[in-house]
Amino acid sequence: MTTYSIDGLEALLGELGVNVPIPSFIESEVLRRPIDIYRSYLADTASKVLECDAYLAYEAIQSANIKDNSDLTLVLPKLKLRSDKPKDLAREAFIKFSSTPLFQLPLPDGVHLRFVFSTSTLPRLILSYIDDRMEQYGRVGLLGDQTKTSANGIPKKAVIEFSSPNLATEFNSSHLRSTILGAQIANLYESAGWDVVRMNFLGDWGKEIGLLGVGWNKFGSEEAFQSNPMGHLYEVYEKISEQFKPEKDASRKARDEGRGTAEIEGKGIFAERDGFSKRMEDGEPDEVNFWKRIRDATIAYYTDTYERLNIKFDEFSGESQVSPESIAEVESVLKEKGIYQESDGSWIIDFSKHGPKSLGVSVLRGRTGSTSYLLRDIAAVLDRNKKYSFDKMVYVVAADQDVHFQKVFQALRYMGHDELATKLEHVSFGKVQGLSQQLGEVHLLSDILDSSIKQMSEALSSDQNDHPGIDNSDKSAEILGITSLIAQYCGSSKRTTGYNIGTKKLVSFEGETGTTLQLCYAKISESDTDEAVLANVDYTHLQDDLWTEVIRVIAQYPDVVDVAFRSHEPSAVLAYLFRLSEELGNCLEEEEEEDDNGEGDNGENGGSGNDNHAADSRDPPEAILAQAVLYKHARQVLKNGMAILGITPVV
Ligand code: ARG
Repeated sequence: MTTYSIDGLEALLGELGVNVPIPSFIESEVLRRPIDIYRSYLADTASKVLECDAYLAYEAIQSANIKDNSDLTLVLPKLKLRSDKPKDLAREAFIKFSSTPLFQLPLPDGVHLRFVFSTSTLPRLILSYIDDRMEQYGRVGLLGDQTKTSANGIPKKAVIEFSSPNLATEFNSSHLRSTILGAQIANLYESAGWDVVRMNFLGDWGKEIGLLGVGWNKFGSEEAFQSNPMGHLYEVYEKISEQFKPEKDASRKARDEGRGTAEIEGKGIFAERDGFSKRMEDGEPDEVNFWKRIRDATIAYYTDTYERLNIKFDEFSGESQVSPESIAEVESVLKEKGIYQESDGSWIIDFSKHGPKSLGVSVLRGRTGSTSYLLRDIAAVLDRNKKYSFDKMVYVVAADQDVHFQKVFQALRYMGHDELATKLEHVSFGKVQGLSQQLGEVHLLSDILDSSIKQMSEALSSDQNDHPGIDNSDKSAEILGITSLIAQYCGSSKRTTGYNIGTKKLVSFEGETGTTLQLCYAKISESDTDEAVLANVDYTHLQDDLWTEVIRVIAQYPDVVDVAFRSHEPSAVLAYLFRLSEELGNCLEEEEEEDDNGEGDNGENGGSGNDNHAADSRDPPEAILAQAVLYKHARQVLKNGMAILGITPVV
């Protein structure tokens, strides 16, 4: 019988000495989060011994906290107990608990009672639980608990928009962060049982494409385009931008000084650019053919390059793909509601008039009749809603567009689409600086990847240390180079924090880096054998601290994934993996030490009984086998977490 079902889980608990059925709570998902088994029993016991409401007790349980070294904490004031001496609450409560097969005796601590899982049952419960799930561990989807994601059992739909580079300009650090975080967030939604559409919204329309078109007519080379399409387009765009700069500056200056810009913008590259984009919007064949060619080439390039990051988009949409019908709908509804107004030949929304004030004034349709970025984004929401009827849409875009998205959402509310607006979320993030300090002049996504891999390859060949399981082949360098980049850009703090990666070594083999995670993974993979199966385990060999620490951490994995999902913070998963690899590192270190001591030294340290002792080379084969089984399951958890982050295991 497996722990897939409540019956199976209760049968296992029965063998561990727990003979009461699992108390049920609405929030509790005992088939997906093993800690919920503990929460449920604890809430039930607490409600009985302290005579309080069981649901209140469930809500009063706080999760593990590394610092205080406990697994669950009962926050007593939340129980609303009647007491004459509130100060002695914890002491009074503490004496009412006894130890159970699942819990040791609690520890009173201020107004808290701290609980630690019993190490005599923990290893068997958690390893069996993970063993029954393996790659499904932490995911929703198995066991009919999809119902958690929607009322009728049909998974909810999420559109996750991320990466979204522009056809002409460089792939910058924010595009990279959007790509990495966006893919991780999409994986988190999928892991939570959602039906996910991964969408790339290319900047493939408007004035910049007009400028690129003008540049192409001056500097474009068919031959150069054939051999390196993206590189050549970038070069052309840079050249024309340089020539355009004085005109752009002059126009900005005129505007800042309150003079008209029409004269400056009516000639030179300005006029050529606007003419090109207007003809493109009007469907003139030459311009449209040029645009189509570069768009196709860009999509082909990105499809291959994203694949190196394990990313596959379901749709390459883009600013050019917004339907004229939706654009017309936005404009007519806004007009009808008295929100859209003409100003100086353009069409604008004065947000400051209709509120909120801070959003200022924005142009939706320019003097030449061209649509703006904002208008296209508003209309795109209507298109996507029609196409996907999503329950949620997430935009993973840098913080410098915070105001832009507030405008998009506000415009929809003006239109009366309040409900639709509540389904939209801008997942904003801070700037990562120092990419060029690390990698040199990189302008394309493939340059960034190649440069990181090259550095890794050099680091691998110059590194003196032996790294079990990792060679300095091209394949290792590719996987490790990309892992380091992903770990750096996922970040170690909250999304909104910006940071500089220029000061740290991207490829470092020490500290909390992508590489150290892979080294740990490779190392514990070495102990895997055919005999390392649950049926062969004598769990008494896993009751020492070093092992139970690892088990306590792997038990928390589904909780961590849930937190990361709810907060859109994939870095919570990365931080967790670092913590797990640290615990595993402690075991491996101990193992090495004991191996060293074992050579020629038969002293008193041999044998067991020492609380901190791990894989002693003189351990009986059953102990070694039990440890191998633990490593195997910890490795699975590392692998599941890495999969969420888009990291391929190196071995
Ligand atoms: N292409 C834009 C840029 O490079 C990002 C697009 C973000 N997505 C959106 N729906 N506006 O800045």
